[in-house]
Order: sequence, then C-alpha cells, then structure tokens
Amino acid sequence: MPLTIAFDVYGTLIDTSGVVTALEKHIGHRAEPFSNLWRTKQLEYSFRRGLMQNYRDFSVCTSQALDFCCQTFQVELGAAERVDLLESYRYLPAFADAKQGLERLKASGFRLFAFSNGKPDDVRNLLAHACIDQYLEDVVSTDEIKSFKPNPAVYAHFLRRAGACGAEAWLVSGNPFDVIGAISAGMRSAWVRRAPQAVFDPWEMPPSLTVATLVELCERFQANPA
Ligand code: 2OP
Repeated sequence: MPLTIAFDVYGTLIDTSGVVTALEKHIGHRAEPFSNLWRTKQLEYSFRRGLMQNYRDFSVCTSQALDFCCQTFQVELGAAERVDLLESYRYLPAFADAKQGLERLKASGFRLFAFSNGKPDDVRNLLAHACIDQYLEDVVSTDEIKSFKPNPAVYAHFLRRAGACGAEAWLVSGNPFDVIGAISAGMRSAWVRRAPQAVFDPWEMPPSLTVATLVELCERFQANPA
C-alpha cells in the first residue's frame, strides 16, 4: 500500500499572509501585524468552538476574527471593504514550493489528500485557483464531522475517508498544533518549518520529520519511504 499523505491547507499549501496585499489597501503599514492577529484569532476561535462543541464553520471563525481585529486596530471597514477582504481569503496564493513538491510526490506514487478545517467547497476553490488541485486525490474537511483540528476525531475521520491506517499515513503541516494533534492521534507527521524563526511547541511530541519545503519533503520520502 503506498504511503498516504494528508496536507494541511492554510499555512502549509496555501500562504495565509497573501492577504497582506489586500489589507495594505485598507490599513497601510499595519497590514502585517493585522494579518498575524487575524490568523491567530481565526485558529483560536476554531479551538474554542471545538472545545465548547458549539460548531460554526471555519468561514465564520475567519469573519468573526476579522471583526475582532478591526476593533483591536480601531479600523472601520465599509460593508464592501469587508466583503473584499473576506473574498481575498478565498483566493490566497500557494507557497512557492507547493506545486513542485506535490507534483514530485504524486509522480513518486504517494497518495495525496488535502485535509483542512475549511469547508470542502472553499478548499476546492482555493486549491483550484492556486493551480494545485490536480495533484490531490480528494479533499477531506473537518466540517464533515462538524469539528476542528486538533480534536482526535478529525484525524480518525481523515484515516477512514482515505482508507488508510495510522502507521501508513502522514500529516504534513506548517502548523505545530496540527502536527502534535496528528501524532497524538497515532499518525506520523512532518512539520514544514515555513519560517526559520518558527518555534515548535516544546511538548513531549516532536515532529516525526522537519523540512523547510515540500520539495525537501519529497527528497526525504524518496530516500526513506517508510
Ligand atoms: C487548516 O486546517 C489548520 O488552517 C489549517 O487548513
């Protein structure tokens, strides 16, 4: 059975900081800290909703996190500007290495999936717009069980949907909380260290593998496929 690889989407295949360009139009030089807080709050809202078992989909977490950031930065957006910013989140770019990494992994015979908190249609559109959808066998979304990462149930859901077992499946993610969630749920997991200064949470569950890019991931898997 070939190795099954689940790719996290936001922060791994797709660059969420791509929203900075759209933000610059509205808030100038504060775009970067605003974007960082937006992403942090979006994830925090998904964690909290998961724990509270009060599910609203990931696009709601994104839009409520935007409103939080506007209040924090004291930015007043018109309705059209707000729609424009949320639209830019639907058309974020892929990281520069994503296409080549996926292409090589697929050519090497691995089974590749997208696995995300995002709603299935949102993820499909995002990946198609970034021109990387053709390498992926399917999109698996945590929305299918109305929960979010890192609930262990979502990793079990991925394995069921992909028809794989934990020992033969990897999660690849740029998000340390996701890597730790997958390892805790019995999968192996590679951390894509998207920035040299990124820090992995110093818990008792280190990544099975750390790489800087998806091309390096492919080289490491080709050298040692298990
Ligand atoms: C994703 O599931 C965690 O945002 C990340 O795509």
